[in-house]
Amino acid sequence: MNNTFFIETWGCQMNDLDSQRLSGNLKLRGWRRVDDEKQAGLILLNTCSIRDKSEQKVYSRLGELRELKKKSGAQIGVCGCVAQQEGEKILKRAPWVDFVMGPGNVGHLDEVLTGSKTVAVDFPEDRRYDYLAIDRPSATKAQVTIMEGCNKNCTFCIVPTTRGREVSRTFVDVLAEVRAAVDSGRVEIELLGQTVNAYRCPESGRDFGALLSAVAEIPSLVRLRFMTSHPAEVSEGMIEAMRDHANISRYLHLPVQSGSSKVLRRMKRLYTREKYLETIGRIRAAIPDIHFSTDIIVGFPGESEEDFQQTLSLVAEIDYGSLFAFKYSPRPGTPSLKIGPPVDDEVASERLARLFDRHERMKRSRLESYQGKVLPVLYDGLSKHDPSMLAGRTDDNWVVNFVGDPATPLGTMVGVRIAHAQHHTLRGEAV
Ligand code: 5AD
Repeated sequence: MNNTFFIETWGCQMNDLDSQRLSGNLKLRGWRRVDDEKQAGLILLNTCSIRDKSEQKVYSRLGELRELKKKSGAQIGVCGCVAQQEGEKILKRAPWVDFVMGPGNVGHLDEVLTGSKTVAVDFPEDRRYDYLAIDRPSATKAQVTIMEGCNKNCTFCIVPTTRGREVSRTFVDVLAEVRAAVDSGRVEIELLGQTVNAYRCPESGRDFGALLSAVAEIPSLVRLRFMTSHPAEVSEGMIEAMRDHANISRYLHLPVQSGSSKVLRRMKRLYTREKYLETIGRIRAAIPDIHFSTDIIVGFPGESEEDFQQTLSLVAEIDYGSLFAFKYSPRPGTPSLKIGPPVDDEVASERLARLFDRHERMKRSRLESYQGKVLPVLYDGLSKHDPSMLAGRTDDNWVVNFVGDPATPLGTMVGVRIAHAQHHTLRGEAV
């Protein structure tokens, strides 16, 4: 039997980590990972269904794999959010697929591989989580799930269907996993959750602010980040934890989705424009030079030019460092389908372009403001584009590529003088 596997991962950090868990589990059982799908005895597609034509993309990829399977005989498994969304339908449309496994079953891979479950799209009560069997790709960073699922039910979003109801892991489990990761040299930890700041320990009731503080105080942990926060769940405890711990990144991704209170209500975001601005103000008062980033959806059903203008003005007012924006994409079974049709595609494209243009100029001047400064950079590997340079991140989460001594141990904090700003990154020299 060919006990090699190949994993292809699409989508968010959660999916990245699920692939690391699948890979770690397979390796524990004697499987070997390969980078070439043609060599593999098992091919896993870890899919994403957040927007666009995700289902079609998976089916067209499966079409290619059908041909490969005729030659190599590989087993094919569809995992991730499209698996959860489509379930049985995948086996009907692509009968050469061997199993379909949703995100709730990542810890139950055994049952799927032995053939006792071919469509695993439930959310088992015991979500097995073996944190010692995670195939972490970085020697200096580790992602740690603290909660899964989402109870918010935003009207545009597929996540409640694909990742189920909110479930938090216990304080004790999270701390044990972080300690183990730090002991293995992962000095940078990123806590993950679909609504990470809705975390609540199922045993003690302690909240996200308490968890952040407890994790930040683990000895030798150099940097702590987290993703993704919901604006309606930002608590004083969370802000205080960020203010009081120098190793917590001065960076917050706080998706706003729209600057119009009317659109926010239709999206069921649970805050208004004013409330969001007030939250930003409270955070800035505590952590003045924080880097905010956001997600925005343009062209949500009923979004008028006036609504969009409010998004533009909000973006200008907040001065986000980074911004991710998408055209609204109707997702199967979501309540927004009943609100009305999406905004005309040409109009939505044009709004998206205006939004990026406005933000680009703001980002440029922000990045240029770092020129000439010496910033502490956590060195985490060679530069992706130019392997003769080192790379790392500032504590406000900007990527810096720099000239430095290649003998520097990974995970060292290096002082870097910033020479100039590039498109999304900074460039400099170690001092
Ligand atoms: N259409 C477009 N964008 C979406 N997002 C989530 N669902 C949709 C959708 N149906 C975006 C949101 C979210 C990010 C991860 O993806 O902005 O914050």
